[in-house]
Amino acid sequence: MITNFKNSNVLRQKANFYIPGGAHTYSKGDDQFPQLSPHSIVRGKGARIWDVDGNEFVDWGMGLTSVILGHAYDEVNEAVKAEMDNGINFIRPSYLEAEVAEIVSSQIPSAEMVKFAKNGSNATTAAIKLARAFTGNDIVLRCVDQPFFSIDDWFICDTQIDRGIPKNFHPLTKQFQYNNIESLRKQIDTYKPQGIACVILEPAAIEEPAGNFLQLVREECSQHGIVLIFDEVVSGFRFHPKGAQYLYGVTPDLSCFGKAIANGFSASALVGKRDIMSLGGISHDSERLFLLSTTYGGETHHLRAIQKTIEILNRDDYAVTRHIWSVGKRLKEEFNNLSRSLGIEKQAYMGGIDCRPYFVFLDPFGNPDNNLRTLFVQEMIKCGILVQGISPSFSHQEDEVVQTVSAFKFSLQTLSAAIAAGDVSTRFRGEPIKPVFRKFN
Ligand SMILES: Cc1ncc(COP(=O)(O)O)c(C=O)c1O
Repeated sequence: MITNFKNSNVLRQKANFYIPGGAHTYSKGDDQFPQLSPHSIVRGKGARIWDVDGNEFVDWGMGLTSVILGHAYDEVNEAVKAEMDNGINFIRPSYLEAEVAEIVSSQIPSAEMVKFAKNGSNATTAAIKLARAFTGNDIVLRCVDQPFFSIDDWFICDTQIDRGIPKNFHPLTKQFQYNNIESLRKQIDTYKPQGIACVILEPAAIEEPAGNFLQLVREECSQHGIVLIFDEVVSGFRFHPKGAQYLYGVTPDLSCFGKAIANGFSASALVGKRDIMSLGGISHDSERLFLLSTTYGGETHHLRAIQKTIEILNRDDYAVTRHIWSVGKRLKEEFNNLSRSLGIEKQAYMGGIDCRPYFVFLDPFGNPDNNLRTLFVQEMIKCGILVQGISPSFSHQEDEVVQTVSAFKFSLQTLSAAIAAGDVSTRFRGEPIKPVFRKFN
């Protein structure tokens, strides 16, 4: 059982002293994990990571879903290292900028033009700006059932944590529901007179599109002159190497990729139709638009990481993709069978799409139960498994799956006993895990 976090606890304090939130990503923060957890990681290889106390874990977070092949994946790392020796940033574009743009363009159905950056938020925010410029309208309709689109104000103004954002942003971002075409139609009717720039959603995140939902979204957008943006920062390259847009057969006007595009190296891409994307170019006669221009967007080693990752994802009839879907499916089945056999399936189950499953913990009244979640994660950590959701990679092989299922068994037994005894909150140390998007700490 893993219970020694001595060095982690020292670094936890240092991190919270020097870094607001104690980490550079909120979802890696202390409020997202039980107190009995590693704070600081030293290295990773494949599907495993090691913390500063020498504890070894199976990692199911995989760099917030970005590390699709595995940590320190040899082929990608070798390509990146070789490119670093050639220098990474020059006075004019590297030849790789066009080469890799061409690769992405032939990979993704809607990618007539491509602009690279470093973060998913760079891409989604640039897509919003382009849509506003193209339509001359300001209103953004965003899917409310999907957790995150950007760190930028157009999105964060529409969350619980809107402090510091000018009030005049708020009226410009409106919501609709996933798999509810009527909710989108209603918002289009309401806001059309004001002028709608775009609809933005993940093609699939928490659930798959029901029936022809995405096709209907496409039709509504086309009919009303609204730019359709797919946020594929997570789904692209995970659901399918050609994007979820290929899998579900719907072509957006603009889409945004990141995360798995470069096996965790910092790279993102805004792609889309030529007539919209070229507004950011230097050869049209209309008013200029300042589209994504970053010092590091054309860094050569991240472009090499994109190229190598796509090459691997395309191999063997998409073996990586098939593996990821089957690992997620198996874990979901194993978890749900165990939970059912303990009679707690209404309070603890795994849902979601097989390539991106998640855990659900509910109180007896059906409300989210963060005490149960915290106890579960604490018990999994004791067994050497680090989870938030499940982000399968190509490196999660039989050993990792077997160890994880055995940890499920141990942890769900603890949950079952705690539910029966009514003492869940006394069985974990410290505060329960909290949602990132909350008004007060
Ligand atoms: C769906 C989605 N879009 C956009 C982003 C922003 O990506 P990044 O953190 O690379 O800026 C994220 C990040 O988690 C995301 O999940």
